[in-house]
Amino acid sequence: MNAKSVTVRHLLEMKKEQRKISVLTSYDASLTRLMEEAGVDVLLVGDSLGMVVQGQESTLPVTLDEMIYHTRNVARARQRTLLIADMPFMSYRSPDLALESAGRLMKEGGAHMVKLEGGATQLEVIRQITAQGIPVCGHLGLLPQSVHKLGGYRVQGREADRAEAIRQDAFALQEAGIDMLVLECVPSALASEITASLTIPVIGIGAGVDCDGQVLVVYDMLGMNPHPPRFVKDFLQSGGSILQALQEYVAAVRDGTFPAEEHGFK
Ligand code: KIV
Repeated sequence: MNAKSVTVRHLLEMKKEQRKISVLTSYDASLTRLMEEAGVDVLLVGDSLGMVVQGQESTLPVTLDEMIYHTRNVARARQRTLLIADMPFMSYRSPDLALESAGRLMKEGGAHMVKLEGGATQLEVIRQITAQGIPVCGHLGLLPQSVHKLGGYRVQGREADRAEAIRQDAFALQEAGIDMLVLECVPSALASEITASLTIPVIGIGAGVDCDGQVLVVYDMLGMNPHPPRFVKDFLQSGGSILQALQEYVAAVRDGTFPAEEHGFK
């Protein structure tokens, strides 16, 4: 870690100072180098790689070994960014297994933080991992690993009782020790309220501009998704080169011009 590295403390300061945090997914060394140059703050080796790299129908088939492989590729090229790795489906189904999996992502992959999906059901798992000094990022709203239970990739928290459940889960996760939270595809007003009431940074994807930062799947924001979700903006169209597109994304997140209202949900 060098003096300019982005750390968990740094992200907390950014929240306090209301400086927006830019996050992108990365799965390889070449894009990671460009993201470093563009000034991205945090890289996420998302299990979305199952869909965008492997061509699978969902994130469910991704294995822990595959996550470690991609995390290591990204770790070799990162310099300043904080590196988060997703815990894949079934790799955290008990506290002991979760600790084992998180430990491998840190030791073998070189991750600085692990991310896992879910609310109240994950509190024991989170306590077990954080007790060993491993930072954890929570993930609420649309949970891609639960796509079959949710019945598709749809906005979460529109009904009052579901919104309240997400609110309660967010507080419970913070209480259990997470250092950051991703909110995916929830109404912008709900995300705004949760962001204002938590002390940890909240990163949105399809969650409106009021979150403390934004994350996108890098191939989506480079226009490579033939059916992009509503919350995606193609930065390559205006950027002209991959580096410029990444720089424009960072600038737009920082100055709050991305996401625009049309990228959010009511
Ligand atoms: O897997 C992933 O890329 C993610 C982000 C979309 C938040 O979880």
